[in-house]
Amino acid sequence: MTRKLASLALVLPALLLAGCEFGSKTQTQVGPRGTAMVQIHDTSSIKPLAAVPEPPYPLTPDMLEGQRAKEAYQNVQVLGDLSAEEFNYTMASITNWVAPDNGTIKDGGCNYCHNPENMASDEKYTKVVARKMFQMTRNINANWKPHFAGSQNAAAGNAGVTCWTCHRGNPVPQYVWSSNVANPKSIKGNKFGQNTPAQTVAWASLPNDPYSALLEGKNNVRVQAAKTFPTDHVASIQSTEQTYGLMMHMSQGLGVNCTYCHNSQNFANWSHSRPQRVYAWYGIRMVRDSNDNYISALGNVWPANRRGPAGDPKKIFCATCHQGVNKPLGGYPMLKDYPGLKGPYVSAAAPAAPAAPAAPEAPASVPVAAADTSKPAA
Ligand code: HEC
Ligand code: HEC
Ligand code: HEC
Ligand code: HEC
Repeated sequence: MTRKLASLALVLPALLLAGCEFGSKTQTQVGPRGTAMVQIHDTSSIKPLAAVPEPPYPLTPDMLEGQRAKEAYQNVQVLGDLSAEEFNYTMASITNWVAPDNGTIKDGGCNYCHNPENMASDEKYTKVVARKMFQMTRNINANWKPHFAGSQNAAAGNAGVTCWTCHRGNPVPQYVWSSNVANPKSIKGNKFGQNTPAQTVAWASLPNDPYSALLEGKNNVRVQAAKTFPTDHVASIQSTEQTYGLMMHMSQGLGVNCTYCHNSQNFANWSHSRPQRVYAWYGIRMVRDSNDNYISALGNVWPANRRGPAGDPKKIFCATCHQGVNKPLGGYPMLKDYPGLKGPYVSAAAPAAPAAPAAPEAPASVPVAAADTSKPAA
């Protein structure tokens, strides 16, 4: 049996402007009355999400006991703390999620990552990648809980992600990005994707790769000051455009509009923003951590056909998990069936998370990372 999940459709800003007199739109008030903080959904274009796969077989508590995988097998570097039983269950699960033997994926099944003659061998790059993916998934679940703080599954410890959240039965997730930086030495100059409308920024006439600047590294996500003479809040036109490009992606990736997070009376003001903006703030850092310390860190492990035109691997942004809905998989707590993906791995690479906002309803402390130099005015 599979669980069918309905999802809210991808609502493009253009669709919102197209007028409310036709189609079947619903409205949800998300902010105080009179602030125009409303979400408009076109229910006529609701598309069903792929069904969440069932576990390969039930994982009973006695299966968590017994010999550890690192004792049972020869070359288990990350999942050695699992019981051998849970390890096998996890192998069967990831096969369904990443490389199912369904006839459409070349060499799908265990052999996608393994040489069947020698399961301990790391000769296939896919196995080396998968090991890093185990570390990345555990790091997301163990160290980025503030991103999932608004989830109703948070208290039970089941808010988080599995490989399915991104992969959905594909070796390469459907929604990924890679650098689109043109050759700056070109006679035509480098317009940084400007005026080249692309799906990646919801077809807006904005730099179509804001990700290389903002979803890797530590650059500030800032726009120019509202004041005529910026004093303590300086951002270039380029960073302003990149910020808007990223905001378009965040809205499209989650299927929401700007007021899902912001009060448009003052986009920068944290005390006027919704708690969702705080979750999103952690999301940006979580994505950077995953891209920098896991995907890009694999370096030459990625073969040429897994890289973009500029030679970098395909990386994560909001749509990789969210896929057009504000709660991936409709908020279904898939992680509950896969305890081996929750931890206990603790990353040395994860940045010291800034103090979590005490009350998500009214974020009192402005979350500003140590590297953020232009602290937004509260
Ligand atoms: C997406 C890649 C992938 C797929 C598909 C996969 N595995 Fe694995 N497998 C791994 C990784 C990565 C490890 C090493 C884990 C670690 O180091 O913690 C591993 C390790 C193993 C080991 C331990 C071998 C040893 O002696 O060190 C066994 C046994 C195993 N897998 C069985 C299976 C079986 C059976 C299937 C199919 C049902 C399967 N695997 C499918 C990635 C995969
Ligand atoms: C690794 C997967 C993953 C990535 C990447 C990701 N998210 Fe999330 N996000 C989640 C999960 C899981 C939840 C919790 C869903 C629930 O409530 O059950 C969530 C929740 C949220 C929420 C709260 C939703 C609500 O309605 O309360 C916001 C806002 C959000 N994410 C924004 C973002 C933004 C912005 C990005 C990109 C910068 C991003 N996320 C990237 C997995 C992800
Ligand atoms: C947050 C999103 C995300 C999660 C969670 C995730 N992956 Fe990935 N994975 C990616 C991206 C993005 C790529 C593609 C990189 C590329 O092609 O350059 C990828 C690529 C891979 C590949 C290489 C496939 C190929 O054919 O080259 C394997 C294998 C893989 N992931 C296994 C896993 C496993 C196993 C898990 C769970 C333990 C997992 N992934 C969890 C995002 C994710
Ligand atoms: C899912 C939540 C979310 C959505 C939707 C969203 N934003 Fe943002 N926005 C944020 C977060 C979080 C930041 C701060 C990022 C940081 O500091 O790393 C931000 C920052 C900004 C800033 C910069 C403020 C400053 O301090 O300079 C502007 C301007 C902005 N957003 C505009 C928009 C617009 C326009 C839209 C709709 C197209 C939008 N945002 C949609 C969460 C969101």
